[in-house]
Amino acid sequence: MILGIETSCDETAAALVDAQGNVRASVVATQAELHTQYGGVVPEIASRRHLELIAPVVREALAAAGATLDDVRAVAVTQGPGLIGALLVGVAAAKALAWARRLPLIPVDHLLGHVASLYLQPTAAEPPFLCLLASGGHTMLIDVQEQSRHVLLGQTLDDAAGEAFDKGARLLGLGYPGGAAIDRLAREGDPLAYSFPVARVPGLDFSFSGLKTSLLYAVRDLPADELARRRADLAASYQRAIVRALVERLQVAAERTGAARVAIVGGVAANSELRAALPADALLAPLVLCTDNAAMIASAARFLPALAYPEYLSLDAYASA
Ligand code: KG4
Ligand code: ZN
Repeated sequence: MILGIETSCDETAAALVDAQGNVRASVVATQAELHTQYGGVVPEIASRRHLELIAPVVREALAAAGATLDDVRAVAVTQGPGLIGALLVGVAAAKALAWARRLPLIPVDHLLGHVASLYLQPTAAEPPFLCLLASGGHTMLIDVQEQSRHVLLGQTLDDAAGEAFDKGARLLGLGYPGGAAIDRLAREGDPLAYSFPVARVPGLDFSFSGLKTSLLYAVRDLPADELARRRADLAASYQRAIVRALVERLQVAAERTGAARVAIVGGVAANSELRAALPADALLAPLVLCTDNAAMIASAARFLPALAYPEYLSLDAYASA
């Protein structure tokens, strides 16, 4: 089994995945509540919390899999991109575990980790496919040719789709992180109540910053009681605009590349309207594997080169790609 470790943002996660892609255990300790009062992730607080949680989370994953470190053949860890202090906690923990057992270490790019959430059982997919990665930090269209061959077709020029959800939620007073809250509230609202424009940028890129501004104006012009009454309509209309922008671009990219299948991964792939808007044969990871987790990191590691002991001891994390 591969032991995966993920600490790039505010989730401390460990998982055990076997060579066939079966998830034997996946533990995610979310710090979301800790950061809610600040309206976003506070990097220094996240790092300290990772430090407290990483050993218990790894221990819990091993226990849940009925395994010990004797059953682990390699340690995989998110090397970047993400919050540098947070990443370093995971990288240091992974190095220590690997070093203690003389195991190889496999550094994993967080974004390829999200794509590799699709390679897990029981619904493991095989490339080629066109993948939309939409998370709190990234929005990318990726031509996945093989498990280890990816071509970036387009990305956001400003905010990520998840960031648009989070900023929108904040404007609507829904707290952080807001994607799931908008998703829930939108079910009670009218998606046609407001018309929020999404910028059309050339090529296969995305832009979401203007959308956030139009929500800001709509909210600012409403008296408090009216805002409370229209909140669900605003959430539904705002979500509709984000989903349409994502699906339209995905369709254009599919036509251009001739991709037979499309896939979505990343936290925003948990969005119910987005999932429903995709073709029936679209590849979707289960909800628990959309948001940050370590099973996807261990999954990606199956297709990446391993660093032998002790060459990984000087391994560093990176904050941006
Ligand atoms: O992949 P992820 O867990 O972390 C990053 O790598 O960024 O993605 C987190 C993002 C957040 O912006 C969150 O609001 C969004 O995913 N998200 C959602 C939903 N669940 C999580 N966005 C829309 N609808 C959801 N149901
Ligand atoms: Zn992520």
